[in-house]
Amino acid sequence: MAKQILYKHFAHHATFFFFICSLLVLASIMKTTTATSSRHQARDEAGDLKCIEKERQALLHFKSYIRQDPDGRLSTWTDEKKVEEATSECCEWSGVTCNNKTGHVTTLQLSNGYLEGKISPSLVNLTYLTHLDLSWNHFHGPIPMFNGSMTQLRHLNLQGNVFNETIPMFIGSMTHLRFLDLSFNHFTGNIPLFIGSVTQLRYLGLYLNDFNGTIPMELGNLTNLQELSLRGLSNFTIENLNWLSNLSHLKSLYMDGTSLAKANNWVNVIQSLKKLSDLSLSRCDLS
Ligand SMILES: *[C@@H]1O[C@H](CO)[C@@H](O)[C@H](O)[C@H]1NC(C)=O
Ligand SMILES: *[C@@H]1O[C@H](CO)[C@@H](O)[C@H](O)[C@H]1NC(C)=O
Ligand SMILES: *[C@@H]1O[C@H](CO)[C@@H](O)[C@H](O)[C@H]1NC(C)=O
Ligand SMILES: *[C@@H]1O[C@H](CO)[C@@H](O)[C@H](O)[C@H]1NC(C)=O
Ligand SMILES: *[C@@H]1O[C@H](CO)[C@@H](O)[C@H](O)[C@H]1NC(C)=O
Ligand SMILES: *[C@@H]1O[C@H](CO)[C@@H](O)[C@H](O)[C@H]1NC(C)=O
Ligand SMILES: *[C@@H]1O[C@H](CO)[C@@H](O)[C@H](O)[C@H]1NC(C)=O
Ligand SMILES: *[C@@H]1O[C@H](CO)[C@@H](O)[C@H](O)[C@H]1NC(C)=O
Repeated sequence: MAKQILYKHFAHHATFFFFICSLLVLASIMKTTTATSSRHQARDEAGDLKCIEKERQALLHFKSYIRQDPDGRLSTWTDEKKVEEATSECCEWSGVTCNNKTGHVTTLQLSNGYLEGKISPSLVNLTYLTHLDLSWNHFHGPIPMFNGSMTQLRHLNLQGNVFNETIPMFIGSMTHLRFLDLSFNHFTGNIPLFIGSVTQLRYLGLYLNDFNGTIPMELGNLTNLQELSLRGLSNFTIENLNWLSNLSHLKSLYMDGTSLAKANNWVNVIQSLKKLSDLSLSRCDLS
């Protein structure tokens, strides 16, 4: 009797176990079929990501604006099969990253490349770009007006180039930016008020430029800022630092070499920044 019950029990469990196994197998078959069918849209026969033709043309146009590329950073950016490793699939090009499902270009990472030239306006066609890093090259102006385009851009790094105009107005419309670095260029004129509209910024680097005038109060709108670098702005006088006490998330503040001689309440303002852990105020003519 006991044996029979035990057997029944076992049979019951075995059936159930078999049922679960079948479900799992079925689920995994369905998963692979859907995965392959969605992969087919964005990948070629070899499994490489296929890039979007419009974006490929935008990149080729970007390349056509580069006068010097001594390290051959863009040598893979070509249709010609003669070049080793060349492919027309722009997602395979050096410095280019695409979304691995959609094939849209999301990242352009070309820092430290000794590239010399202008920035092509064709970049407006990289609609899904989130990360643009052209730092430490020899790019010069004028920067094209990327008005209302590149709305996905989160990270813009133009540090260490030779831009010598005023900060372009389209920056004020890039309200999703988290990271903006324009340091170590020759940007002139004022630090514009419209920087105050880029309220999602976590990092803002403006150091070592040729700005004149004074700091706009509107920087006090950047309440998410965690790091701010305004060092080495030699023709620049900061008369009022009240806006700074609005930046309650600020962890790092670098102002060395920028005169604070006229900002007489700087002690109170700095003391109000409770999260500050890195502070650099050397050669600031503190009074
Ligand atoms: C696709 O990208 C995601 C996120 O970037 C990553 O986690 C994933 O491993 C990638 N898949 C393939 C097949 O490269
Ligand atoms: C963007 O791409 C379209 C073709 O899709 C082209 O006609 C247009 O000139 C491109 N824009 C720029 C600024 O290169
Ligand atoms: C870009 O915006 C500026 C300032 O808002 C404006 O003067 C210019 O005409 C705009 N350009 C385009 C192409 O929309
Ligand atoms: C900016 O640099 C270019 C050379 O790249 C030069 O011709 C131009 O005069 C400079 N403009 C200013 C305002 O210095
Ligand atoms: C700064 O914020 C105030 C309100 O908080 C707003 O009225 C003003 O337009 C903002 N300025 C900029 C440049 O975004
Ligand atoms: C600072 O201003 C003076 C006079 O306006 C000018 O001669 C000098 O070139 C400026 N220096 C910088 C670094 O902009
Ligand atoms: C700042 O420089 C620009 C030209 O570069 C000049 O037109 C303007 O008068 C200067 N402003 C100040 C306050 O020196
Ligand atoms: C500080 O931020 C508030 C909003 O959080 C804004 O209304 C005010 O204008 C800012 N003050 C300055 C000096 O920017």
